[in-house]
Amino acid sequence: MENELEFRSDLYCICMLNFLFWYLVFFLKLRRIIFASTNESKFNEIFLYLKTFNIDIEFVRFESIEIQSSRLEEIALQKSKEAYGKIGEPLIVEDTGLFIDSLKGFPGPYSSFVLETIGNQGILDLLLKKTKRSALFRSIVAYKDSNRHMTFSGDTKGTISEHITEGGWGYDPIFIPEGSTATYGQLGITNKMGVSHRTHALNNFAEWYSGNYSREQEF
Ligand code: IMP
Repeated sequence: MENELEFRSDLYCICMLNFLFWYLVFFLKLRRIIFASTNESKFNEIFLYLKTFNIDIEFVRFESIEIQSSRLEEIALQKSKEAYGKIGEPLIVEDTGLFIDSLKGFPGPYSSFVLETIGNQGILDLLLKKTKRSALFRSIVAYKDSNRHMTFSGDTKGTISEHITEGGWGYDPIFIPEGSTATYGQLGITNKMGVSHRTHALNNFAEWYSGNYSREQEF
Protein backbone atom coordinates (compact mmCIF):
# COMPACT_ATOMS: atom_id res chain seq x y z
CA MET A 1 0.00 0.00 0.00
CA GLU A 2 2.79 2.40 1.00
CA ASN A 3 4.70 1.50 -2.16
CA GLU A 4 1.65 2.11 -4.27
CA LEU A 5 1.18 5.55 -2.71
CA GLU A 6 4.83 6.41 -3.32
CA PHE A 7 4.50 5.23 -6.91
CA ARG A 8 1.40 7.39 -7.41
CA SER A 9 3.05 10.49 -5.98
CA ASP A 10 6.10 9.90 -8.21
CA LEU A 11 3.80 9.56 -11.21
CA TYR A 12 2.00 12.74 -10.20
CA CYS A 13 5.33 14.62 -9.98
CA ILE A 14 6.40 13.33 -13.38
CA CYS A 15 3.06 14.38 -14.92
CA MET A 16 3.31 17.87 -13.36
CA LEU A 17 6.90 18.31 -14.55
CA ASN A 18 5.88 17.18 -18.01
CA PHE A 19 3.01 19.65 -18.04
CA LEU A 20 5.30 22.45 -16.81
CA PHE A 21 7.88 21.64 -19.47
CA TRP A 22 5.37 21.79 -22.35
CA TYR A 23 3.71 24.87 -20.90
CA LEU A 24 7.09 26.63 -20.88
CA VAL A 25 7.90 25.42 -24.40
CA PHE A 26 4.64 26.81 -25.78
CA PHE A 27 4.82 29.97 -23.69
CA LEU A 28 8.37 30.75 -24.82
CA LYS A 29 7.52 29.91 -28.43
CA LEU A 30 4.58 32.27 -28.27
CA ARG A 31 6.87 35.04 -27.14
CA ARG A 32 9.49 34.56 -29.80
CA ILE A 33 9.21 37.01 -32.69
CA ILE A 34 11.46 37.66 -35.63
CA PHE A 35 12.91 41.10 -36.29
CA ALA A 36 13.38 41.36 -40.05
CA SER A 37 15.96 43.98 -40.99
CA THR A 38 19.48 44.63 -42.19
CA ASN A 39 20.21 46.93 -39.25
CA GLU A 40 21.94 45.22 -36.32
CA SER A 41 22.14 48.45 -34.28
CA LYS A 42 18.34 48.59 -34.31
CA PHE A 43 18.21 44.93 -33.34
CA ASN A 44 20.44 45.53 -30.29
CA GLU A 45 18.09 48.24 -29.03
CA ILE A 46 14.93 46.24 -29.79
CA PHE A 47 16.34 43.07 -28.21
CA LEU A 48 17.29 44.93 -25.01
CA TYR A 49 13.93 46.61 -24.64
CA LEU A 50 11.64 43.68 -25.47
CA LYS A 51 13.59 41.46 -23.09
CA THR A 52 12.06 43.49 -20.26
CA PHE A 53 8.66 42.25 -21.49
CA ASN A 54 9.95 38.67 -21.74
CA ILE A 55 9.58 38.84 -25.51
CA ASP A 56 12.40 37.06 -27.29
CA ILE A 57 13.50 38.58 -30.57
CA GLU A 58 15.47 36.78 -33.24
CA PHE A 59 17.34 38.73 -35.91
CA VAL A 60 16.71 37.63 -39.49
CA ARG A 61 18.58 39.53 -42.16
CA PHE A 62 16.02 40.80 -44.64
CA GLU A 63 16.38 43.46 -47.31
CA SER A 64 13.15 44.80 -48.72
CA ILE A 65 12.35 46.76 -51.85
CA GLU A 66 11.48 50.03 -50.09
CA ILE A 67 8.41 51.64 -51.65
CA GLN A 68 8.41 55.39 -52.23
CA SER A 69 5.81 56.81 -49.90
CA SER A 70 5.49 59.94 -47.82
CA ARG A 71 3.96 57.85 -45.01
CA LEU A 72 6.20 55.78 -42.73
CA GLU A 73 3.23 53.53 -41.80
CA GLU A 74 2.71 52.59 -45.42
CA ILE A 75 6.40 51.73 -45.83
CA ALA A 76 6.41 49.61 -42.63
CA LEU A 77 3.20 47.78 -43.59
CA GLN A 78 4.57 46.98 -47.04
CA LYS A 79 7.93 45.88 -45.63
CA SER A 80 6.34 43.58 -43.02
CA LYS A 81 4.02 42.06 -45.64
CA GLU A 82 6.96 41.33 -47.90
CA ALA A 83 9.02 39.90 -45.03
CA TYR A 84 6.16 37.69 -43.85
CA GLY A 85 5.71 36.39 -47.40
CA LYS A 86 9.35 35.22 -47.35
CA ILE A 87 9.80 34.19 -43.70
CA GLY A 88 6.29 32.98 -42.81
CA GLU A 89 6.65 33.47 -39.05
CA PRO A 90 5.33 36.18 -36.69
CA LEU A 91 7.60 39.17 -37.15
CA ILE A 92 8.16 42.86 -36.66
CA VAL A 93 9.88 45.41 -38.86
CA GLU A 94 10.70 48.95 -37.81
CA ASP A 95 10.91 52.13 -39.83
CA THR A 96 12.25 55.45 -38.66
CA GLY A 97 12.13 58.99 -40.01
CA LEU A 98 13.80 62.19 -38.84
CA PHE A 99 11.52 65.20 -39.45
CA ILE A 100 13.21 68.61 -39.26
CA ASP A 101 10.75 71.49 -38.82
CA SER A 102 12.64 74.26 -40.62
CA LEU A 103 13.16 71.89 -43.59
CA LYS A 104 9.40 71.24 -43.77
CA GLY A 105 9.75 67.72 -42.39
CA PHE A 106 12.72 66.74 -44.58
CA PRO A 107 14.26 64.11 -44.67
CA GLY A 108 11.27 62.25 -43.10
CA PRO A 109 10.59 59.00 -45.00
CA TYR A 110 13.72 59.64 -47.09
CA SER A 111 16.01 59.59 -44.03
CA SER A 112 17.91 56.52 -45.19
CA PHE A 113 18.73 57.91 -48.63
CA VAL A 114 19.66 61.31 -47.20
CA LEU A 115 22.04 59.82 -44.63
CA GLU A 116 23.71 57.74 -47.35
CA THR A 117 24.09 60.74 -49.66
CA ILE A 118 24.62 64.05 -47.84
CA GLY A 119 25.09 62.50 -44.37
CA ASN A 120 24.98 64.26 -41.01
CA GLN A 121 27.28 67.04 -42.23
CA GLY A 122 24.88 67.69 -45.11
CA ILE A 123 22.01 68.12 -42.65
CA LEU A 124 24.06 70.55 -40.53
CA ASP A 125 24.94 72.50 -43.69
CA LEU A 126 21.26 72.78 -44.63
CA LEU A 127 20.56 74.24 -41.19
CA LEU A 128 23.45 76.76 -41.23
CA LYS A 129 21.26 79.82 -41.81
CA LYS A 130 18.23 78.54 -39.92
CA THR A 131 17.43 79.79 -36.45
CA LYS A 132 14.97 77.01 -35.66
CA ARG A 133 16.60 73.58 -35.13
CA SER A 134 13.65 71.61 -33.75
CA ALA A 135 13.06 68.11 -35.09
CA LEU A 136 11.15 64.93 -34.40
CA PHE A 137 12.22 61.31 -34.60
CA ARG A 138 9.35 58.94 -35.43
CA SER A 139 9.42 55.16 -35.22
CA ILE A 140 6.84 52.80 -36.68
CA VAL A 141 6.87 49.16 -35.58
CA ALA A 142 4.80 46.90 -37.82
CA TYR A 143 3.75 43.46 -36.57
CA LYS A 144 2.57 40.73 -38.95
CA ASP A 145 1.44 37.16 -38.45
CA SER A 146 -1.11 34.93 -40.16
CA ASN A 147 -4.09 37.06 -39.19
CA ARG A 148 -2.88 40.33 -37.69
CA HIS A 149 -1.18 43.23 -39.37
CA MET A 150 -0.74 46.25 -37.14
CA THR A 151 1.44 49.30 -36.63
CA PHE A 152 2.57 51.05 -33.45
CA SER A 153 4.19 54.47 -33.43
CA GLY A 154 6.46 56.43 -31.14
CA ASP A 155 7.82 59.98 -31.29
CA THR A 156 10.64 61.84 -29.60
CA LYS A 157 10.94 65.59 -29.98
CA GLY A 158 14.32 67.28 -29.91
CA THR A 159 16.73 69.55 -31.74
CA ILE A 160 19.55 69.15 -34.24
CA SER A 161 22.96 69.83 -32.68
CA GLU A 162 25.42 72.44 -34.01
CA HIS A 163 28.17 69.84 -34.38
CA ILE A 164 28.49 66.13 -35.05
CA THR A 165 29.25 64.40 -31.77
CA GLU A 166 30.78 61.02 -31.09
CA GLY A 167 28.83 57.83 -30.35
CA GLY A 168 25.82 55.97 -31.68
CA TRP A 169 24.90 55.33 -35.28
CA GLY A 170 22.84 56.93 -38.05
CA TYR A 171 21.58 60.37 -36.97
CA ASP A 172 22.44 59.69 -33.30
CA PRO A 173 25.42 62.13 -33.36
CA ILE A 174 23.23 65.12 -34.35
CA PHE A 175 19.93 64.55 -32.51
CA ILE A 176 19.45 66.00 -29.01
CA PRO A 177 16.29 64.67 -27.36
CA GLU A 178 14.11 67.14 -25.47
CA GLY A 179 15.18 67.55 -21.83
CA SER A 180 18.78 66.60 -22.58
CA THR A 181 21.92 68.51 -23.52
CA ALA A 182 23.56 65.45 -25.08
CA THR A 183 22.89 63.82 -28.43
CA TYR A 184 21.53 60.28 -28.72
CA GLY A 185 25.11 59.33 -29.58
CA GLN A 186 26.56 60.83 -26.41
CA LEU A 187 23.83 59.31 -24.25
CA GLY A 188 24.87 55.74 -25.05
CA ILE A 189 22.48 52.89 -25.74
CA THR A 190 20.90 52.56 -22.26
CA ASN A 191 20.16 56.26 -21.75
CA LYS A 192 19.08 56.62 -25.37
CA MET A 193 16.62 53.75 -24.87
CA GLY A 194 15.18 55.63 -21.92
CA VAL A 195 13.91 58.44 -24.15
CA SER A 196 14.02 57.18 -27.72
CA HIS A 197 11.28 57.21 -30.36
CA ARG A 198 11.89 53.47 -30.87
CA THR A 199 11.28 52.75 -27.17
CA HIS A 200 7.94 54.56 -27.31
CA ALA A 201 6.83 52.54 -30.35
CA LEU A 202 8.14 49.27 -28.87
CA ASN A 203 6.38 49.99 -25.61
CA ASN A 204 3.05 50.40 -27.43
CA PHE A 205 3.70 47.18 -29.30
CA ALA A 206 4.84 45.20 -26.24
CA GLU A 207 1.89 46.30 -24.11
CA TRP A 208 -0.52 45.19 -26.80
CA TYR A 209 1.31 41.94 -27.47
CA SER A 210 1.78 40.97 -23.82
CA GLY A 211 -1.68 42.05 -22.77
CA ASN A 212 -3.66 40.34 -25.48
CA TYR A 213 -2.00 38.47 -28.18
CA SER A 214 0.45 36.25 -26.32
CA ARG A 215 -2.50 34.41 -24.80
CA GLU A 216 -4.01 33.65 -28.22
CA GLN A 217 -2.65 30.87 -30.35
CA GLU A 218 -0.12 31.49 -33.12
CA PHE A 219 2.02 28.48 -33.88
P1 IMP B 1 15.24 53.14 -41.49
O1 IMP B 1 14.16 52.95 -40.51
O2 IMP B 1 16.26 52.05 -41.37
O3 IMP B 1 14.75 53.34 -42.88
O4 IMP B 1 16.00 54.43 -41.01
C1 IMP B 1 16.09 55.59 -41.77
C2 IMP B 1 17.40 56.25 -41.47
O5 IMP B 1 17.38 56.75 -40.15
C3 IMP B 1 18.60 55.33 -41.59
O6 IMP B 1 19.62 56.03 -42.25
C4 IMP B 1 19.00 55.02 -40.18
O7 IMP B 1 20.40 54.92 -40.04
C5 IMP B 1 18.49 56.26 -39.43
N1 IMP B 1 18.01 55.87 -38.11
C6 IMP B 1 17.01 55.01 -37.82
N2 IMP B 1 16.86 54.89 -36.50
C7 IMP B 1 17.78 55.70 -35.94
C8 IMP B 1 18.14 55.96 -34.59
O8 IMP B 1 17.58 55.46 -33.62
N3 IMP B 1 19.14 56.85 -34.42
C9 IMP B 1 19.79 57.43 -35.46
N4 IMP B 1 19.52 57.20 -36.71
C10 IMP B 1 18.51 56.34 -36.97
